[in-house]
Amino acid sequence: MSSDLLGAAPKLVIVGQGYVGLPIAMRAVEVGYDVVGLDVDEVRVSGLSAGVSHVEDVSVEQLKVALASGRYLATVDTSALTGFDIAVITVPTPLKDTLPDLTFIEIAAATLAPHLRPGAIVVLESTTYPGTTEELMVPILEQGSGLKADAEFHVGYSPERIDPGNPVYGFVNTPKVVAGLGALAREKVSAFYSTLVDQVVEVSGPKEAELTKLLENTFRHVNIALVNELAIFARDLGIDVWESIDAATTKPFGYMRFTPGPGVGGHCLPVDPSYLSWEVRKTLGHSFRFVELANDVNEHMPDYVVQRVMTGLNARRQALNGSHVLLIGLAYKPNTGDTRESPAVRVAELLLAHGAEVRAVDPYVDPDRLRVSGVLLVDLTPEEVAWADAVVVLTDHDGLDYDAVAHAEAYVLDCRRRLKGLRECL
Ligand SMILES: NC(=O)c1ccc[n+]([C@@H]2O[C@H](COP(=O)([O-])OP(=O)(O)OC[C@H]3O[C@@H](n4cnc5c(N)ncnc54)[C@H](O)[C@@H]3O)[C@@H](O)[C@H]2O)c1
Repeated sequence: MSSDLLGAAPKLVIVGQGYVGLPIAMRAVEVGYDVVGLDVDEVRVSGLSAGVSHVEDVSVEQLKVALASGRYLATVDTSALTGFDIAVITVPTPLKDTLPDLTFIEIAAATLAPHLRPGAIVVLESTTYPGTTEELMVPILEQGSGLKADAEFHVGYSPERIDPGNPVYGFVNTPKVVAGLGALAREKVSAFYSTLVDQVVEVSGPKEAELTKLLENTFRHVNIALVNELAIFARDLGIDVWESIDAATTKPFGYMRFTPGPGVGGHCLPVDPSYLSWEVRKTLGHSFRFVELANDVNEHMPDYVVQRVMTGLNARRQALNGSHVLLIGLAYKPNTGDTRESPAVRVAELLLAHGAEVRAVDPYVDPDRLRVSGVLLVDLTPEEVAWADAVVVLTDHDGLDYDAVAHAEAYVLDCRRRLKGLRECL
């Protein structure tokens, strides 16, 4: 990596030290940047400063090496931004009352603006609708700094593609899409990311890069909805949808495997497509029907799971009200502890609302960050399996004793076909 300041490492600020920001910070330290990880969450920052990683993809060892290098500072103090060369914004972009909430980006840009210097680069990585970088972020940066984008400082957008827990594709070997506002900015942003990842893919402008991310996530969202709806119909028709999915997957071209489940979760799929449909409606005045249909199907999956549990118990002359239900997995995907928007949490809430007593097994979930009250986190022991009237496999983390679940006396609903077809599947 080249240095531009009399041999000093370029100063990189990462605004937001979450699932996206922390891995970038670690990689940047590794290749030689002087990194400030700014976050507003004091608990997170003091944890990081003490060598405690809250992100599965960043090991404690990696964090400790970064801290020991003297080139990583996690802080809530914005004075640490002084003199930055490059800033990357990785703050949340949630929905508020079903509408995009861009206040985190606005605050992050306003925080950076007074520290902007001529020649500096600011890149947005948060997932958002096309136009956010140019129409929302740039005016805030210009107003707060008194500098002109393109002429005096450089702006870019690069969507994050991180897949938490993926053992094959991590930050470095996943191609990174990059764009700049203007050709020079694109060149600068591209050169920056080339120091961090194996391959950068340039697109002509921030809007194309913003849309790329939404296309990727909408594609997944729609295809998951397709197999979810198919699973419901196939069951009613007496057809094993899982067998059909396996068979279709043998086609070597033109097909991509998606499997049914209790819904979609995490920061991305339940949220990002709605950013796109919101923009289509606001700008063009009509709906993005695929997104709305996919939302509709996926949002109803937790209700469908509960309905299946009720039917299963009913066949045993048991009511859900008062029954013991053991959930396997609360995180939204296997081998992570992330319960944001997790459909498993929604299933738990619905079961509780129906009067069930609910326990859950999830070795990855931090009990202090559990997003549902009234659920007891337990280990998967023979006693807990025996306690249950119904067991529902919602998230198939590795390393659990699925044999015990497959042979439970209880009614078992396997939403992931983890029990090899031995029990009822979604
Ligand atoms: N998690 C993923 O797998 C993933 C993948 C691709 C894209 N994204 C996108 O990346 C963005 C960040 O997601 P995340 O999962 O890292 O979120 P996160 O909640 O894990 O982390 C965001 C961090 O930003 C901090 N923050 C909020 N406002 C701030 C401010 N003004 N200044 C400094 N820090 C601030 C929060 O305290 C938090 O620690 C979102 O737009 C998300 O959609 C996430």
